[in-house]
Amino acid sequence: MGELRLEDLSAKNIVAANSLTLRPGQEQFVTPVSYSIADAWINPLTSWPRVIVDGDEVVGFVRGNFDPDAEQEEFRACIWRINVAADVQGLGVGKFAVKEVADEARRRGFTRLTVIWEPGESGPEQFFLRTGFTVIGQTQYGENIGALEL
Ligand SMILES: CC(C)(COP(=O)(O)OP(=O)(O)OC[C@H]1O[C@@H](n2cnc3c(N)ncnc32)[C@H](O)[C@@H]1OP(=O)(O)O)[C@@H](O)C(=O)NCCC(=O)NCCS
Repeated sequence: MGELRLEDLSAKNIVAANSLTLRPGQEQFVTPVSYSIADAWINPLTSWPRVIVDGDEVVGFVRGNFDPDAEQEEFRACIWRINVAADVQGLGVGKFAVKEVADEARRRGFTRLTVIWEPGESGPEQFFLRTGFTVIGQTQYGENIGALEL
């Protein structure tokens, strides 16, 4: 893995970002139900989509959401989506993306970053625990709500 960086989502990288592959069994974990439902009312202005690039290659995608006025605390400063290309998983790309979203949240004055995930084999639970999140509760759909103090 070379020097990783984030790029704004643009015409140049959107096709590669949309074509990121997953490992078998991971599809069901990409968008927790809570996010699919909330997507309908989330203001696009609060969305922070970034493509993760290694050299010229798109290796992942991360979307933060920053909305200090969100009614539910878990939607105020959160990782809405994170996806690392199947062939480069386990090499630190996801950890880099979490750090970048955390830095952005800090710059915006938040003191806590949250994420919602579905527990289960092949899911991202161990990744979020390794990157510093702790489970602070569950959604009505049985997903875990994780928080990282900034
Ligand atoms: C979850 C995901 C983003 C992790 O990205 P990644 O680049 O593979 O993770 P990293 O290499 O940065 O791993 C960071 C740490 O988490 C650990 N980790 C990552 N995945 C793990 C797993 N499945 N089981 C155990 N530990 C894991 C790594 O060992 C590493 O630990 P370390 O810091 O002690 O070395 C990636 O697997 C993915 O895209 N999954 C499919 C989509 C998905 O489920 N997204 C989450 C939606 S909520």
